Amino acid sequence: MRFQDKVVFVTGGASGLGAATARRFAAEGAKVVVADINRDGAEQVAAELPDGWAVGVDTGEAASVEQGVADAMQRYGRLDVIFNNAGIDGQQQPLHEMDVANWERVRRINGDGVFHVLRYGIAAMLRGGGGAVVNTSSTTALAAQENISPYTFTKAGIVGLTRSAAIEYAARGIRVNAVAPTVVMTPLVEHFIDSAPDPGQMRRQMEAFNPKPGIPTPDDVAGVVLFLASDDAAWITGHTIPIDGGYVAR
Ligand SMILES: NC(=O)c1ccc[n+]([C@@H]2O[C@H](COP(=O)([O-])OP(=O)(O)OC[C@H]3O[C@@H](n4cnc5c(N)ncnc54)[C@H](O)[C@@H]3O)[C@@H](O)[C@H]2O)c1
Repeated sequence: MRFQDKVVFVTGGASGLGAATARRFAAEGAKVVVADINRDGAEQVAAELPDGWAVGVDTGEAASVEQGVADAMQRYGRLDVIFNNAGIDGQQQPLHEMDVANWERVRRINGDGVFHVLRYGIAAMLRGGGGAVVNTSSTTALAAQENISPYTFTKAGIVGLTRSAAIEYAARGIRVNAVAPTVVMTPLVEHFIDSAPDPGQMRRQMEAFNPKPGIPTPDDVAGVVLFLASDDAAWITGHTIPIDGGYVAR
C-alpha cells in the first residue's frame, strides 16, 4: 500500500499501459484520476477502482489540460503522482514522404502534450509540497526504428524534457523520471501492426523484437512506473528506464 491516500493523475488512462497502471495504483491505496480524450473509456476504468474519477482531457490542448488538472484539484485537493503517458503511434512513412499533418499531429500529442501535463501538473503538485512524475518515452528514443520519425522525435524529446524537469524541481521535492517500454500488445501496437505495409511481417517482427523471448504485458510496465513513483526510488530522478528485455543493450 505504497500509495495509500495519494492522488495519482494518469493520462491515457482509458486503455493499455495507462489503464493497467491506474489499476495498480488503486490496488496500492491511491485515489486515481483517469484522464483521457476518450471520456467514456476513462469513466469505465474509473468505475472499476475503489476511488477513481474520470476527466475528459485532450493533452495536446493546453487549456484542456489546465482544466483537467483544476478539476482534479477541486475533487481531491492535491496531486502526488502524475503518469504522463497519453500518446499515439501515427502513420508509418519514410521521412522524405512524411505527411506533414501526421508529423504535426504526433508532435502535438506526444510532444506538446507531455509538456502541457508537466506544465500544469507540476504547478499543482508544488502547492502540495512535492511528488513524483513518470513520463512515457519508448525504446524508439534509444534505438531508432524506421518509418516513425515523428514518434521517435517526440519520444527522444521526452528523455531530454525528463532531465530538464528533474533538475528544475529536485530541490522542491519533485522527482521526474521516464519509462521506455519495448513493444507491449496494447490497442496502440495493434493499430501500428495493422497500419504497416505488410501487417503479417510486422507482427512477426514485433513478436521477436527483444533478446528476451516473449512480449511484456501492460502490468510489467505498470510495476516499474509504481516503483519510480514510490519512495523506494527516492534518489532516482532525471532517468529514462528501458523496459525492453535487453533490446537497447544489443
Ligand atoms: N504499447 C507499446 O508497445 C508502447 C511502447 C512504448 C511506448 N508506448 C507509449 O505508451 C503510451 C500508452 O500507449 P498504449 O500502448 O497504452 O496505447 P493505447 O492506445 O492503448 O492507449 C493510449 C491512450 O491514450 C489516449 N489518448 C490518445 N490521445 C490522447 C490525447 N490527445 N489526450 C488524452 N488522451 C489521449 C487514448 O484515448 C488511449 O486511451 C503512449 O505514449 C505510447 O507511445 C507504448
